[in-house]
Amino acid sequence: MKFKKKILCIGAGYVGGPTMAMIAHKCPDYRVTVVDINHERIDAWNSSELPVYEPGLAAIIKKTRGKNLFFDKDIAGQIKENDIIFVSVNTPTKTFGAGAGMASDLQFLEKTAREILKYSQSSKIIIEKSTLPVKTALAMERILSSAKGKISFEVLSNPEFMAEGSAMKDLENPDRVLIGSRETISGLKARKELVEIYARWVPKEKIITSNIWSSELSKLVANAFLAQRVSSINSISVLCEIADADVSEVARAVGLDSRIGGKFLNAGIGFGGSCFKKDILNLVYLCRFYGLPEVADYWESVVKINKYQQERFILHILSTMFNTLAGKKICILGFSFKANTGDTRESPAIYITRRLLAECADVVISDPKAMGNAALDLADEAGEISYIKNPYEAVQGCHAIAILTDWDLYKKLDYKKIYQSMVKPAFIFDGRNIIDHKKCFEIGFNVYPIGKPGLSHFKNQPGI
Ligand SMILES: NC(=O)c1ccc[n+]([C@@H]2O[C@H](COP(=O)([O-])OP(=O)(O)OC[C@H]3O[C@@H](n4cnc5c(N)ncnc54)[C@H](O)[C@@H]3O)[C@@H](O)[C@H]2O)c1
Repeated sequence: MKFKKKILCIGAGYVGGPTMAMIAHKCPDYRVTVVDINHERIDAWNSSELPVYEPGLAAIIKKTRGKNLFFDKDIAGQIKENDIIFVSVNTPTKTFGAGAGMASDLQFLEKTAREILKYSQSSKIIIEKSTLPVKTALAMERILSSAKGKISFEVLSNPEFMAEGSAMKDLENPDRVLIGSRETISGLKARKELVEIYARWVPKEKIITSNIWSSELSKLVANAFLAQRVSSINSISVLCEIADADVSEVARAVGLDSRIGGKFLNAGIGFGGSCFKKDILNLVYLCRFYGLPEVADYWESVVKINKYQQERFILHILSTMFNTLAGKKICILGFSFKANTGDTRESPAIYITRRLLAECADVVISDPKAMGNAALDLADEAGEISYIKNPYEAVQGCHAIAILTDWDLYKKLDYKKIYQSMVKPAFIFDGRNIIDHKKCFEIGFNVYPIGKPGLSHFKNQPGI
């Protein structure tokens, strides 16, 4: 079959895999190929055990793989073959040198640009899908503009706004698609070509275009605003605990104001995931770099409150359980950073588990999708950890449960059965405010949510 367009994506991760699967699904007359330096990942994409779990993803892969969607290891050959190249490589926080702990590590992006330059035999459109500091396209252009002869490259910015856990829904029905370009004749022509791809299934009014720097910056700012809402409500949760207010009631009353809106106002142990912290720190770094310390401090406080909320949660477990956790068995329900994903990058569960182990607690970890990643994250820990997927088996003989991920499954558990199998007095620390606290209290648990009064059977013990 002759394909209308040939699209390549470099980077077969949480973004590259699902986004390209959606393009292949919606554009059966385009050939879409995804490459990666990680060959195991490519093998996994070609197997029945996909490397990324997302509801709906496996069904789309089944429909498209081998027809117009391909996962390949030959990066050089595929660069030669394709005219439109998405770059979706990782851009983690730098761990060394200038900007360590804050700035983006752009080495993977730069290597990709150099590979594109090295293997290209014709002009191409290069699309930044990775989240990048503003002005990165300039570096990309400078590397690519050293091409010899008639070959030229047009760099576009098309940041990805999908959220893990609902990636396929977000990709199929996005709030908006953002495409930034240079406002030159060739830039606008390339932009039009990319608009045409999305217009196959996204309504035209949702495909917005901008200059390339606005596009790069919008992604960092969107993540900063989302994380800021989480930290805002979490900062209020502490006050609620002291003032006998209920953070869910406050969030409801506040969120019903149409200027504010109700989403992203759930108090809990804070945000995780590979993006929020990294992108805010990157924004903070950029502000400091451009001589804006007040702006940098404002955004940095979002990350500080997130850490504070996790530390508070641990200290609360410790003080409630009579100031010692040594030898006590604590079951962690949920290890992924949010529900409906197996991704554990920057999950609050990692930090909380490590701190519980430092208190010499025995930790049992249970999660429907993240057991493998949890074991990798904690591989260097010497403490007592067991991994038991079935929650009913995991809680047996435990002194306390800590709910760390908002999986639906945990709302529906038979807590009576669970209570019977635990050591008494039994505790639940609901780090996501998802279970029926009153019901669990009536069963016999001492229940401690976040930002609302605890329900304790002990006389004279304040809830929180
Ligand atoms: N995960 C999300 O929810 C999300 C959402 C929006 C945007 N983003 C951004 O998208 C980018 C990718 O994120 P991700 O979660 O998919 O990362 P990831 O780590 O899951 O995937 C990146 C992949 O790129 C590959 N890679 C690195 N250098 C390469 C090279 N030179 N050639 C070929 N492959 C190479 C890696 O092996 C890896 O498999 C990041 O910038 C991230 O900030 C992520």
